[in-house]
Amino acid sequence: MCTVEIEPIHVYQGTLDLESKIDEWDLRNQDAPINVCDLSKIVSKYNDWRRLMPNVMPYYAIKCNDELPILKTLGDLGTGFDCASRAEIEQVLSLGFDSEKIIFANPMKSISHIQYAKENNVTDSTVDNAFEMYKIFKYYPESNVVVRFRSDANKALSPLGNKFGCNAEEDGVLLMILAKALGVNVKGVSFHVGSGCCDFPSYGRAICTGSALYKAGNLIKHNMELFDIGGGFPGNDDEMFCNIAEVVNKSLDKFLGDVKVKVIAEPGRYLVSTAYTTICKIFSKQELRGSDDQLEKVMYYVNDGVYGTFNILIYEDFKIDTIHFKNTDSETFNSLIWGPTGDAADKICDNINLPNLKDGDFIAFPNMGAYSIVTSSAFNGFTLPKTKFYIRKDLQVI
Ligand SMILES: Cc1ncc(COP(=O)(O)O)c(C=O)c1O
Repeated sequence: MCTVEIEPIHVYQGTLDLESKIDEWDLRNQDAPINVCDLSKIVSKYNDWRRLMPNVMPYYAIKCNDELPILKTLGDLGTGFDCASRAEIEQVLSLGFDSEKIIFANPMKSISHIQYAKENNVTDSTVDNAFEMYKIFKYYPESNVVVRFRSDANKALSPLGNKFGCNAEEDGVLLMILAKALGVNVKGVSFHVGSGCCDFPSYGRAICTGSALYKAGNLIKHNMELFDIGGGFPGNDDEMFCNIAEVVNKSLDKFLGDVKVKVIAEPGRYLVSTAYTTICKIFSKQELRGSDDQLEKVMYYVNDGVYGTFNILIYEDFKIDTIHFKNTDSETFNSLIWGPTGDAADKICDNINLPNLKDGDFIAFPNMGAYSIVTSSAFNGFTLPKTKFYIRKDLQVI
């Protein structure tokens, strides 16, 4: 049963007209930015996933964006959830989804979080070292563990291998032997090639390594049944995603075709990136002119920045796109967009071409759904955007 109130979801027909949202939400008379989330995009990402990787069930990594309408939409479609903490587990359960739908996919867990998982019957969690294996033995020995090994993409926007994942050949097998000695069941294996993977063959390498570890688990007489290929799927690069899907399908067939196994993944950004557009207002500007009074550059100051929704710019090479709502024939100028805070690091993008926009005009930024809201702060007292949720009429799932 759902025990929380979910934000209203507005139904639209045809296409979602972003410009009309500026008046609809009275943005001209206020200083807060807004996010517009089109849940239909999440539904179509899910459909593409099921079409391209029908044998891999997505468990949405809610760390990526935990707004409730997203969790409800995905859960209703049938995804599971990857939770990394007690609070994330609470969120999923508060929506009425079953604890069986959750994998506690954080190899390093606080004791109170393990106890909460136990009280709420969340039985599966990832582990990558002996210390954590003993902790599970002590606090939740009847649960199942999934051994997470390290297998990195050659290039990813946010690599994870330095922090998580054991060496599969040596430590992975030893961990399984330790679990056997302690009486803790190993249910499967997992990996994460790195978030925002730019190296699709890395999934093939990881599945090859993981299949050997999985089979070792069978030999050690664990009840192996789960193969978790983690996250890393790109948010808005369809070609890369198709390449990954092809490698995953072929590799699962080649290395695990003869084994009975449930295959899951933990996609985050793939499902939500494209669904969000952040609409910001220009509240100040400067025109930089050369000695001949020619306009050389325009600097805009908008009401959200890298300490807010654009936080992702600090730690990954995120490509900013802009929508400016002006006639596309307008003359354009070299432009720079600053965030609102008093820090010069608060720069959204530079050297982009925009028409000469006015104070009070709006700029929208698409593809802002992943690792944006969840990592933002109201530094310097600037208001963070609220999200307005929409879904196309023929796709309504809630
Ligand atoms: C354990 C785990 N699973 C899944 C994800 C989601 O990754 P992505 O958004 O790249 O799909 C992350 C991201 O950090 C993670 O740490």
